[in-house]
This record gives sequence, structure tokens and C-alpha cells, in this order.
Amino acid sequence: MAPHKLCMIPGPIEFHEDVLTSMSTPATSHVDPVFVPIFGETIEMVRTIVQSKVAQPFITSGSGTLGWDMMVNLLEAGDEVLVLTTGYFGDHFAECLEVYGAKITYLRAEPGSRPSKEAIADALAKTKFKMVTVTHVDTSTGVLSDIKAVTAQVKAASPETLVVVDGVCSVGSEEIRFDDWKLDVVIAGSQKGLGVPPGLSIVVASPFAIQTFKDRKTPVPSYYSNWGKWLPIMTAYEARKPAYFATPAVQLIYALHTSLKLILSQPLETRFKKHADVAADFRQTVRGLGLKTVAQSEEAAANGMTAVWLPEGVEVAQLVPALAGKGVQIAGGILQGLATKYFRIGHMGISVMDDDRQHIKKVKDSLVSSLTELGYKN
Ligand SMILES: Cc1ncc(COP(=O)(O)O)c(C=O)c1O
Repeated sequence: MAPHKLCMIPGPIEFHEDVLTSMSTPATSHVDPVFVPIFGETIEMVRTIVQSKVAQPFITSGSGTLGWDMMVNLLEAGDEVLVLTTGYFGDHFAECLEVYGAKITYLRAEPGSRPSKEAIADALAKTKFKMVTVTHVDTSTGVLSDIKAVTAQVKAASPETLVVVDGVCSVGSEEIRFDDWKLDVVIAGSQKGLGVPPGLSIVVASPFAIQTFKDRKTPVPSYYSNWGKWLPIMTAYEARKPAYFATPAVQLIYALHTSLKLILSQPLETRFKKHADVAADFRQTVRGLGLKTVAQSEEAAANGMTAVWLPEGVEVAQLVPALAGKGVQIAGGILQGLATKYFRIGHMGISVMDDDRQHIKKVKDSLVSSLTELGYKN
């Protein structure tokens, strides 16, 4: 791989050499008999990564945001949606749904925490929601939501309410048990925990979500996002038959195929535990430096990234270039009004799973030395 700054932002993450190599195929028709089974197996492996036997994956060209737009298939104008927001991405998911006429109730928590069980119960008691959205890991804060508990609570109060999980920053780095937890939709992108260059939107829908789509009263007000167009394509490729609606990103699908094979070559439990261990250790380092994570508790702290409040006297505009000068790319903040007050580091994928690469050591060492150079004393 060409020498480069280590990309330790919360996605895109570092790519495995085999993933990059697998993209360098000669021009290949999307209906070539060589490619068709690759796409079919990729669809099956996406189902496996969220630990489902029955869900319907959609793999399309686009980024994570396209998954938000795809919720147009489940909503009709005027539908009530409860948005549990733990940061920037929850808020913007809501903004997207409003475009399609959803009536949004926001449940916000202060930065670093998540909406309480009581607040969710209160909201569920007041309104019959068509959909509840929850951001599994909000990349702006590094807050991890308890999607298992939220889904159980929503389904107990209202079994027909759809639970939609934004898993863009969690699929591949956080445990997701799609069937056991009775999730309806998980939205992902290729560039974070799945370790593939940006460009693929990945959405997984439960049979109940698909039925809700089929039962809708009004036409889907979108062309490219329309599941009516994509369902036959996904079904055909999974049956190892070619089909066409819009040209798939052949090389990115090769890359996703390779990355999913690598990920699934180990038990998923091993992967999630390794992410949890590395994240806990990283938070320990942060605390050892006398700094605080944005996530206010260990339970609410993500396993694939950490957001950290800057110490007094150190600017984000100094810290990010200082690490870049040492060959490590980290990210500043993005929360409105607080963006300059904290920084974010990704610890996902091969950087976590492959100790020999020493990525985590490199990011920790560069952080410590950069803070010292910038005059920070613990
Ligand atoms: C939690 C979350 N949701 C949605 C998105 C949007 O994804 P994309 O930037 O791939 O469109 C992101 C991007 O970082 C994200 O972190």
C-alpha cells in the first residue's frame, strides 16, 4: 500500500490490502457470470453480519445518507416519527425524513448522554408512532445507544411501530442481533466498520418492514430509492441470476465481498469483544491523560470510536495538524456550537483486529506527544 497518513477518523477507516486489491478488476459487466455470484454472496454476508436469517439486504450505490432517504419506502406524508437523537446524525436523519412529510417528535439528550427510558415511555404514551429512529453510534458524540432495550420498549408499547437503526457507525464494530432484538431496519455504509471505501449504501429490512412497504397506500415519491425497483434486483442476484435496474458499483461490491469474507472468517463475538477491549483501553488512556470523553458513561460509550473534550488551552486547529504531522489523521468535532471543543478518533476494523499493524499504539503515542508539544500538562 502507498505510504499515507493513518486514517484514524471515525470513517473512512483503514482498508485491508486484500480489499483494495480485489477492487482492481478489469472492466467487468454487472451481469457477467463471474460477478453475479459475488453479488449474491455479498447480499448473504450482509444478512449474516447483522445476525439475521430473514432480513432483506439492499446494497446500492450511494453513501450512508442514501439509507436515510430509503425510509421514504416506509413513510407516507403525515406519519408520526419519534427520533431519538444523541447528536448531529440523529438530527439530520430527522431533517431527511421531514422532506418526505414525516411529522417528527425529537427526543434529545444533553451531549454525551442518551434519552432516558422514562422520556421514551412518555413519548410513546402520548403518540402512536409509525416509526422510531435511533442512531446506534452517533459519530458526532461517540454515544452508543442501547438498541436492544429501545426496541424492546418500543415493541412492548406498540408492536406495529417500526424501529429503524442508523448503524452507519456501528455495523461491523458493534454487536447487532437483528432477528433476536426484533429490529425492522438497519442502515449502514461501506466505509466504517465494514472496512470498504465509501460509495455503498447498505440497508437491511425485516419482513415486517417489507410488508409495511408493500401495504402502503400512496406511491413511493422517489425513483432511485424505490424498493419496488430494488427488491427484484436483490432477489435475482441472491438467486445467482443477473438483473438490471441501475448499474451496481461492481468494484466496490468486489471490495465488500472481500472485506465481509475477512470479517466472517472469525466468530463475530471475537470481533465485537476485541473492539470493546480496545475501546475500553483507549478510554483508559484518555482518562490517564486527565481528559474526559464526550460519552458520559461507560455503557454509553461506543466501541468503534471515541470523542474527547479538549483540555483548556489546546485548540482543535492545533491538535489535528499536530497529529497529521506525525502521520495520523484524526477528526475535529461536528456538534453545532461545540465543534471546536472536542476531537474524535476512530478505532475500527483492521486497526483494531490486527495488532501487528500497531495503529492503536501509533494514534495513542501521537496523541500524547502532540498534547505535550502543545503545552498541555496533566
Ligand atoms: C451515524 C451516521 N449516520 C449517517 C451518516 C451519513 O453517512 P454518509 O456520510 O456515508 O452519507 C454518517 C456519516 O458519518 C454517520 O456517522
